[in-house]
Amino acid sequence: MGRAVAIYLAEQGYYVYAGSRTPQKLFDVRSENLYPLELDITDPRSIEQAVSRIGTIDILVNNAGYGLVSTVEEVEEVEMFNQFNVNVFGVMRMCKAVIPKMRKQKSGIIINISSFLGKIGLPLLTFYNASKYAVEGITDSLRYELRDFNIRVHSIMPGFFDTNFARDNLVANPATFSEASPYARMVSTLAPVIIEQINNGNDTMEVAKLILEMIEDQRAPARQTAGDKSKKFIPMKRELSDEDFERRVRAYYGLKDG
Ligand SMILES: NC(=O)c1ccc[n+]([C@@H]2O[C@H](COP(=O)([O-])OP(=O)(O)OC[C@H]3O[C@@H](n4cnc5c(N)ncnc54)[C@H](OP(=O)(O)O)[C@@H]3O)[C@@H](O)[C@H]2O)c1
Repeated sequence: MGRAVAIYLAEQGYYVYAGSRTPQKLFDVRSENLYPLELDITDPRSIEQAVSRIGTIDILVNNAGYGLVSTVEEVEEVEMFNQFNVNVFGVMRMCKAVIPKMRKQKSGIIINISSFLGKIGLPLLTFYNASKYAVEGITDSLRYELRDFNIRVHSIMPGFFDTNFARDNLVANPATFSEASPYARMVSTLAPVIIEQINNGNDTMEVAKLILEMIEDQRAPARQTAGDKSKKFIPMKRELSDEDFERRVRAYYGLKDG
C-alpha cells in the first residue's frame, strides 16, 4: 500500500520520501520525485536521522504495520509488545518527530492508515484490532490537539487489500496455530478465509487515489473507508446494535456456537 501511494503521489508531482527498513525495495522505481529512505519506526534514532534529512514536511502518511494472529490466552509477551510497538507507538513516534516542523510552518497533513478492523473486532486478531482501534483514537485526539496549528489529521480504514500483508506481514503465534490449541476449530474456520480475502482484496490504487483526494481537499472528512469490506462493514456497524452486528459477522465468517 505504501509503495502504491509513494509512486502515485510522486507521479502527481509531490516529493515523496518513502521510509522503510528495506528502502532498496524501491530502487527499481524510476522517478525523480521519489526518495527511498531507511527508516525503522520502532527506533527513535532511525526516525530522527530520517526526519533530519528532510527540510519541510507537508504531509505524513503513517502506513507501516503488520498483523499478529494469536488468541489472547496463547500470546507471548514479546509478540504483544511488538504489535503495539510498530502499529501504535510507531505512529506516535512519527507524529512526535514531524509535528514540530508542521507546527512551525503552521500547516500540515497527517494521514494514518488504520483498518476497518480499527472499528470492528474479530477473533484471533485481538492485538491487531486493539492496535488499529488505538490508531483511530490517536487520530481523534490529535485532530483537537493540532487544529490551532492548521495541521489536519485523518485516518483511512482499508478493508482487505491485495498486498504483501498476508504473505509477509501476518505473524502467527505457533501455539494458536498448533492442532493441540483449544482454538483449533476457530483457526481452521477463520484463518484461511481471512488470508484468501486479503490475497484477493482490492487494488491498492484505490487507497493511493483516496490519499490524494484527502490531501487536496481542505474539507476532507476525518476518516474514510476504502475497499469492499470496509464499505460493507463500517456502515453496517453504524446502523446495527452491537449484538445484531456481531450476529451478522458470525454468520458471514461461519463462526458457529458450541
Ligand atoms: N492489506 C490489507 O488487507 C490491509 C487492510 C487494512 C489495513 N491494512 C494496513 O495497511 C498498512 C500497509 O499494509 P500493507 O497491506 O501494504 O502490508 P505490507 O505490504 O506488508 O506493507 C507493510 C509495510 O510496513 C513496513 N514496515 C513494517 N514494519 C516497519 C518498521 N518497523 N519500520 C518501517 N516500516 C515498517 C514494511 O516495510 P519494510 O519491511 O521494508 O520495513 C512494509 O512496506 C498497514 O498498516 C496495515 O495494517 C492493510
